[in-house]
Amino acid sequence: MADGEIDLRAGFAALGRDAFIARLHAETPLARNAEGLWVASRFDDVRAILLDHRRFSSSAMQGGGLSVPFPLLTDDPPRHTVLRALLAKAFTPAAMEGMRPAIERMAGDLADAVPRGEEVDIVARLTSPLPVAVIAGMMGVPAARTADFRRWSNAILGIQSSGAFASERIGTLMELRGYFAELAAERRAAPGADLVSALTRVSDTAERLSDDQIVGFCILLMVAGNETTTNLLGNLLNRLADSPDEWARLRAEPSLIEGAVEESLRIDSPAQMVIRRATEDVEIGGRTIRAGDMVMVYLASANRDPGRWDGPSSFELAREVGRHVAFGQGVHTCIGAPLARLEANAAMQALVARFATLGRGAARGQRLGMGLLYGFRSLPVVLG
Ligand code: HEM
Repeated sequence: MADGEIDLRAGFAALGRDAFIARLHAETPLARNAEGLWVASRFDDVRAILLDHRRFSSSAMQGGGLSVPFPLLTDDPPRHTVLRALLAKAFTPAAMEGMRPAIERMAGDLADAVPRGEEVDIVARLTSPLPVAVIAGMMGVPAARTADFRRWSNAILGIQSSGAFASERIGTLMELRGYFAELAAERRAAPGADLVSALTRVSDTAERLSDDQIVGFCILLMVAGNETTTNLLGNLLNRLADSPDEWARLRAEPSLIEGAVEESLRIDSPAQMVIRRATEDVEIGGRTIRAGDMVMVYLASANRDPGRWDGPSSFELAREVGRHVAFGQGVHTCIGAPLARLEANAAMQALVARFATLGRGAARGQRLGMGLLYGFRSLPVVLG
């Protein structure tokens, strides 16, 4: 293999994620695989690439087997700027504060329904239903459709990570597109206070969104906001399940929860990577990335850069986190980050307030397959 070249899949499979990331930092922080895909793993390189949207295009985010044309995520400025401004109205600090009581109530209700001292799959019980209900609520999806909404949401991500048959997945996707198209048409005719109505009303800019684009936005929010937040909570509970002292510490000092959520985002980044394509030749970390080359911007690895954090592979509840890149950086920085933080904090507050202990169930949790997202499909725990 040429100097600085890696075999991404084999290296990852042989070493496992943690050792693979450590090896990248030690040996090939800016590597290339045989197919010409670059892998940027150093914090400074990752940041430089994400901040340079002119020379690193997000058009490379299209594809990945999702076969959904996502607006925003895959657009570059100037179009990205216009579309982002549309969505940003739903994510202002005031909008978030307005949602806080409902989110705290939902988290409390879900935590109340967890039976004490019995093994439960916390993904099915809490970490998945909470974000799904929040986004469904933001979009004005009627409560009666919430179960469908969750099924669709899981199925879309299943397109990447599960072995379901392609025909089944396409069927679900069609069903979902049909539902959102119906919802968009309904809200255009009779607008409410929800996000879909807001998107249909947009006409104060040069952009007017077609129903098809609104469907794209809806699917984007579902994909970007549901499983990522589920994974954040699952990853954090998984860390804490091995550490009764840390659970006790959070109960005694709930103000530590915010930092624990940030440390979880850093060490177990729910979105492991994003992809960019170079629009011209660029020097990064002493090497030249050529115009047209694709770059895997390895957020999870940047968040474990030993040049930035001491003992980057250990989870420290009250670490001075510094700024991680779990939500990306630059113009595409996660618009839902404040919402994800609000949900994760509400869920953790609800759990530590009610349960004195968190332990593992008899069965092992099931992790998602290797890919873009990092988290749990199921995580059996016992809350006592
Ligand atoms: C822990 C939870 C979450 C994580 C780790 C996460 C991660 C990310 C990352 C890394 C990006 C940047 C993508 C890029 O640079 O190409 C992003 C973008 C985005 N996220 Fe999140 N996200 C989370 C939760 C959410 C939530 C709750 C929502 C909405 C309800 C959301 C909506 C979006 C949208 C719309 C974008 C595209 C922004 C743009 O392209 O300008 N995310 N997210």
